[in-house]
Amino acid sequence: MKNKTSIQGTWASRWIFILAATGSAVGLGNIWKFPYITGENGGGAFVLVYLICIALVGLPIMMAEVFIGRRARKNPINALEDLAEESGQSKKWGIIGLMGMLAGIFIFSFYSVVAGWVLHYIKAMATGELANVSSEQAGALFNELLADPATLLGWHTLFTLMVLAVVIAGVNKGLERATRIMMPALFFLLIALLGYAISTPGFSQGWDFMFHFDVSELSWDAVLVALGHSFFTLSLGMGTIMAYGSYMPKKASIGSTVLMVGALDTLVALVAGLAIFPIIFSNGMNPGAGPGLMFISLPVAFGQMAFGQFFGFLFFVLVGVAAWTSAISLLEPSVAFLVERFKLKRSTASIGLAILVWLLGIACLGSFNFMSDVTFFGKNTFDALDYLTTNIMLPLGGILIAIFAGWFVKDQFVKDEVQTSNFIHVCWKVSVCVISPIAVSIVLLLNL
Ligand code: TRP
Repeated sequence: MKNKTSIQGTWASRWIFILAATGSAVGLGNIWKFPYITGENGGGAFVLVYLICIALVGLPIMMAEVFIGRRARKNPINALEDLAEESGQSKKWGIIGLMGMLAGIFIFSFYSVVAGWVLHYIKAMATGELANVSSEQAGALFNELLADPATLLGWHTLFTLMVLAVVIAGVNKGLERATRIMMPALFFLLIALLGYAISTPGFSQGWDFMFHFDVSELSWDAVLVALGHSFFTLSLGMGTIMAYGSYMPKKASIGSTVLMVGALDTLVALVAGLAIFPIIFSNGMNPGAGPGLMFISLPVAFGQMAFGQFFGFLFFVLVGVAAWTSAISLLEPSVAFLVERFKLKRSTASIGLAILVWLLGIACLGSFNFMSDVTFFGKNTFDALDYLTTNIMLPLGGILIAIFAGWFVKDQFVKDEVQTSNFIHVCWKVSVCVISPIAVSIVLLLNL
């Protein structure tokens, strides 16, 4: 019953798995969302809660996903079905994988639109369009972009093609090669930007903002946002990490590998915050600017600084690379499923999916212009898909994965595959059986 390797391929080493999973985890969630939600929720106290959520809920669920994928060596749907069958349970557990596949397609469609904005800003930084803009001008430029479907479509199409080019080439020639090139580039850019931020007068203010801790600033709302985000940022709840786990070499230890991915993802989010806030503070701007922090406030701040155009350009290249490696991981589980279940060629599966997400993406980019009056429960298509996935599908997928791994899979399977100390195993069990389902259910219910 147990396959030795996935038919899609195997990562060359444990490190490639770590970097590929980190590439999936580190994305717009870390560089765009984390700094602005930290800003909106007052800084330090929020950061602490976020770290606790990663440790208590995120990492245990990630271990569960890697375990399921690596044991079955198949796409998430087949992996869940196989493992359920082996444990004497219903094959219906595979539905979690199906829901995950859909979630990946939905996330991709709006993710690609935001990644398109990033590509536009790379160009704008390179051509000097954003040099010395005022806040009003930067705001106007961003709104002009949103109102222009043709330009948005061009960038969305380019980004979808960039992702397709990697996914179509397969696990080793596509995903692994992209990982080897892009992850070192990402770390290098991040360090360069951090160095730049350290040299600005606002650095200590930025540092204090992120790391001062004041219990009185802690709101219940911030806890919810932190827990929800810990899920999105680690790419959990939809089978991405399961699929990546199914390509993981047999010898690699699951516990320490997952710890490494979680640590790197968190480190990048913190460094992104430390790179952004000093630049914001150095220019006397507001850290709580919300989603416009990266597309409006930051360009203004860069515009006023020495070498600002150059570092602004590097910054958006960094975000573009991070978004690219994440978007790849949104499609991979579905591609693997179509190839393994329906015997499609990888190229057919990849192109078919790319067309599907491209079309859905048009509805998302139209939300800001020609389709702005199409709404679901009062939200435009873009917001509706973001809400549906981030607040409902991913947490639901996460709870079900935790419950499945904790209560329904034979414990011996976990012990054989994960091979950690008894102590870690017990901690993991407590998290997936009790802590995670309860914590995530609360978030899910309150979000509804
Ligand atoms: N983790 C990525 C980010 O922070 C987004 C992402 C990629 C994702 N794959 C995912 C989120 C799978 C949830 C599930 O931007």
